Amino acid sequence: MILRKSQLIKQYRRFRKALPSVTPFYAIKANPHPKVIKTFVRLGSGFDVASAVEMHEVLRLGAPPEKVIFANTIKSIEDIIAARKARVRLMTFDNESELYKISEHCPGAQVLLRIKVDNDRSVVNLSLKFGADADIAFLMLRKAKSLGLVPVGVSFHVGSQSKNVENYLQALEITSNILNEAEENGLPLKIVDIGGGFPIPHFDGEIGVNFERMASQIQKQIKLLFDKKVTFIAEPGRFFVGPAGILVTQVVGRTFRNNKNYYYLNDGVYQDFSGIVFDHCKYEFKTLRRGQKFLSALAGPTCDSFDTLSLDAEIPELYVHDTVYVKNIGAYSSASAVPNFNGFHPAEILVV
Ligand SMILES: Cc1ncc(COP(=O)(O)O)c(C=O)c1O
Repeated sequence: MILRKSQLIKQYRRFRKALPSVTPFYAIKANPHPKVIKTFVRLGSGFDVASAVEMHEVLRLGAPPEKVIFANTIKSIEDIIAARKARVRLMTFDNESELYKISEHCPGAQVLLRIKVDNDRSVVNLSLKFGADADIAFLMLRKAKSLGLVPVGVSFHVGSQSKNVENYLQALEITSNILNEAEENGLPLKIVDIGGGFPIPHFDGEIGVNFERMASQIQKQIKLLFDKKVTFIAEPGRFFVGPAGILVTQVVGRTFRNNKNYYYLNDGVYQDFSGIVFDHCKYEFKTLRRGQKFLSALAGPTCDSFDTLSLDAEIPELYVHDTVYVKNIGAYSSASAVPNFNGFHPAEILVV
């Protein structure tokens, strides 16, 4: 797995340029490699962490605590205590029980209410398990205040790989109504967290992915609906790290079955292609051979039939030791690989 630093920097700069009023907090779940985190620390990024382990990692690598958001609405008591001790004060919640836990173990924390928003046509739906209904938002924020917490704002996530800008525009409209209601009732809020979801192309010439166009519509909506005093943050994961990754695999065996060539690679769904399962991702498989292409199957190395990568890859005929590679695979790939299934390990990571 090759991770290109130049691409990490490029994506960070693209984000900053296209969304100048939004401060990014890189969601390290997409790829927690220390060199990736370090690169974003140097660029001045903030960080979104989902657990105390992730939190300690970004702090160890130099992120200041005030640039960290604990953006998991369900945190264990131990993790909340760890956040207090590490002076990470900004966290999300979406239910009352969490507020009681936070107020007891991290009194005075700054909390953002995560609301449920449309994830229409996003590849990974992130509102099935999290997010409070918008119509109880003010009540939840007032409850936070009554428990001695500091309700600072609202967060949402439109779902990962969201090519549909309407999700953001609508979520911003709902959020602006919540901020207005809160202000009118003496509870001014100052932060809006627009989450992640920013899409990247996984295929050459893929249509429907235009980050800059999407960002300009988001930026306009922000200007239109919100007071200048409101601070905007985001939690990009895939957009920051996906384009940096190139996975290089090798054919370890081949056969002919079901009327097509089957090629077995030295990496599969239990390793760096785990995104096929958990990220619902489809990849473009490329080879170094030229010539006529045939409909072929690609499979991983384990004994599980489920470890199949594609049944309809259009590729030239391949031989043992040939290379098959995939671009734009830096996010949700090695991050969710298991270490040793069947004795096969995820690829070595080279940061260049
Ligand atoms: C709370 C939260 N923030 C940010 C992200 C990153 O999203 P993405 O990689 O789509 O930008 C996720 C992804 O699961 C998430 O759950």
